[in-house]
Amino acid sequence: MEYKLRKAEPRDVPDILRLVKELAKYEDMENQVRLTEQDLLEDGFGDTPFYHCVIAELQNQDASEDVKVMGFAMYYFTYDPWVGKQLYLEDFYITQEYRGLGIGSHIMRHLSDLAMKTRCSGMMFVVAENNESSIQFYKRRGAEDLSQEEGWRLYRFDKDSLVKMATPPEE
Ligand code: COA
Repeated sequence: MEYKLRKAEPRDVPDILRLVKELAKYEDMENQVRLTEQDLLEDGFGDTPFYHCVIAELQNQDASEDVKVMGFAMYYFTYDPWVGKQLYLEDFYITQEYRGLGIGSHIMRHLSDLAMKTRCSGMMFVVAENNESSIQFYKRRGAEDLSQEEGWRLYRFDKDSLVKMATPPEE
């Protein structure tokens, strides 16, 4: 099997959304995906990209298969006032039949190279606590569980809460 990793382009948006949905299904949360291809196109490929993706794509003879993009990682940069730039890994997924072949490790190497090149001091991510196989995948590569070791809790204001706090629209 031959494949290559490359930076996502606007034409990859349908594949990105397909993989986002496959990962959400894997996490039993498929019905939470509200994003459209248009959103992904505007948000990832406009003047100020809100996310980036690295894509794993089949090459040569394997590329004749219907689905050529069989994995991806979505990431962006965040900033920590104590240690500076951080890479944030948002989504990471390899289609089931291509797992265990080293593609995920290759993507992690690619992201680590990127983090070194951009002088990031770490890579952050969230994992569902029942996703034991991925937790082990990350731990074997040195990841620390900050909830357990430092007691951080993940919080969110949903849109309703934001609307309540925001300046009311003018009458
Ligand atoms: N499926 C998954 N992992 C397998 C496997 C299989 N069929 N067979 C073996 N493995 C082992 C590999 O030996 C390897 O062990 P290592 O950590 O000691 O190297 C590891 O699991 C997988 O490594 P690799 O092949 O490089 O990664 P991958 O291409 O399978 O990608 C994931 C890793 C986590 C992206 C992928 O398994 C996946 O998409 N999982 C489901 C979605 C998910 O949980 N994503 C992360 C959300 S936080």
